[in-house]
Amino acid sequence: MRHPLVMGNWKLNGSKHMVNDLIAALRNELSSVVGCDVAIAPPVTYLDLAKHHLGGSRIALGAQNVDTHLSGAYTGEVSAEMLKDIGAKYIIIGHSERRTYHKESDALIAEKFAILKEAGLIPVLCIGESEAENEAGQTEAVCARQIDAVLNSLGAKAFENTVIAYEPIWAIGTGKSATPAQAQAVHKFIRDHIAKHDAAIAEQVIIQYGGSVNAANAAELFTQPDIDGALVGGASLKADAFAVIVKAAAEAKQG
Ligand code: PGA
Repeated sequence: MRHPLVMGNWKLNGSKHMVNDLIAALRNELSSVVGCDVAIAPPVTYLDLAKHHLGGSRIALGAQNVDTHLSGAYTGEVSAEMLKDIGAKYIIIGHSERRTYHKESDALIAEKFAILKEAGLIPVLCIGESEAENEAGQTEAVCARQIDAVLNSLGAKAFENTVIAYEPIWAIGTGKSATPAQAQAVHKFIRDHIAKHDAAIAEQVIIQYGGSVNAANAAELFTQPDIDGALVGGASLKADAFAVIVKAAAEAKQG
């Protein structure tokens, strides 16, 4: 039985004040919730402060990016060892905003996947198609290509204890979530695609849905058998909305 994971991607939002207040509110809202793993990924500047405020809680620390190098002359970068050193656990890679604004390729993202595994960190590999690709019927081909970059270079076993976030680009930040049935169909495709290489690995990989998940639509998404939680952007900045999403996952996936 897969344990759901709901993770907040704060993106480029936050301040010391917000880290204090939002984490205090989340600790309060989520203190009695079991049955769903929870993580937050604040901007890198606030990771250490966030870790401090999360101390003693069940909320794990995540980060939004990592470099492919461990040290050296790479101005502005942050390494897997550094993220591990400050206590981060789940690291988002391949987010569509990085693929688009920073021209990150499938090959580079596969390298990031490898460096995180070597460091003992958990990659949260974001994949998903654009609106044009969706309309052209290329959703499965795009997801397969993005997964294959890792499968072909590292093998299916690399997906052991990892997370994939299916995030259709047209649903991110638009208020237009995929329907539960649409998302389920792609999640099943992703799991089946990995299962062609290794059925046991495919069965245990966490596949989150992301893209305009909110307090109102989360519960229905989580009724789907292959949706194992969510990667939440906008709604993760509000403690009450994020808590509703976490509780919906815990409730839907119990037993
Ligand atoms: P959203 O973002 O929930 O604001 O759509 C999700 C994401 O980009 O991870």
